[in-house]
Amino acid sequence: MITRFAEKDRYNAVAAGLHWLIASLLFAEIYVGWTFGDMERGAARDLWFDWHKTVGITILVISVARLGWRIANPPPPLPARTPPWERVAAGLSHFGFYVILIGLPLTGWTAVSTGRAALTSDVMSLINGLSWPLIPGLPRTLHEPMEGVHELLVKVTYALIILHVVAALKHQFMDKGRMAGRMWPFPRR
Ligand code: HEM
Repeated sequence: MITRFAEKDRYNAVAAGLHWLIASLLFAEIYVGWTFGDMERGAARDLWFDWHKTVGITILVISVARLGWRIANPPPPLPARTPPWERVAAGLSHFGFYVILIGLPLTGWTAVSTGRAALTSDVMSLINGLSWPLIPGLPRTLHEPMEGVHELLVKVTYALIILHVVAALKHQFMDKGRMAGRMWPFPRR
């Protein structure tokens, strides 16, 4: 009985696995974005950009699957004594993560679908000779605004990551793990 109650209060293995998989891909993707963003045009930059598109589309697919999983399997309840402001902050930051995990790849995909690549092809290259369809029928005037929104969402991502890590550390060390213990590998309290 006690064990079942504790399990109910924790994210299950699928949710925790998807959480850490997406977190790793997101950090790798930010690193790849910084790297190719600073490179001269040429074959080396194209390869890094192929990695950027590949990892980004992977994040999009997994994040949509994760959102579906979350809707079908609601997250564990917050500890009963969680103050209202913390409930609102947690809800907003988790919502914000879904916005960036889906919005970043979508704005990047839209930027490529309205850029030079779209003049000669209806697919974009990924790594290993793979390709992915461009979004058809979009006006070219969307290209620059979408690049701008992509860069803005990158900044929102930095802010959310800092907020999320600070909150997790506060929950672990100041609130004695009541909330952080909901997510593996934080110890259950
Ligand atoms: C979660 C997924 C993604 C993250 C975290 C991400 C992150 C980044 C970062 C950090 C940069 C460099 C920004 C800068 O130098 O200021 C960048 C640039 C860029 N990304 Fe992404 N990206 C993602 C998905 C995608 C996808 C799926 C595509 C295309 C299919 C894409 C296309 C681009 C383009 C075209 C640029 C250059 C924008 C410019 O030159 O202004 N991104 N991205």
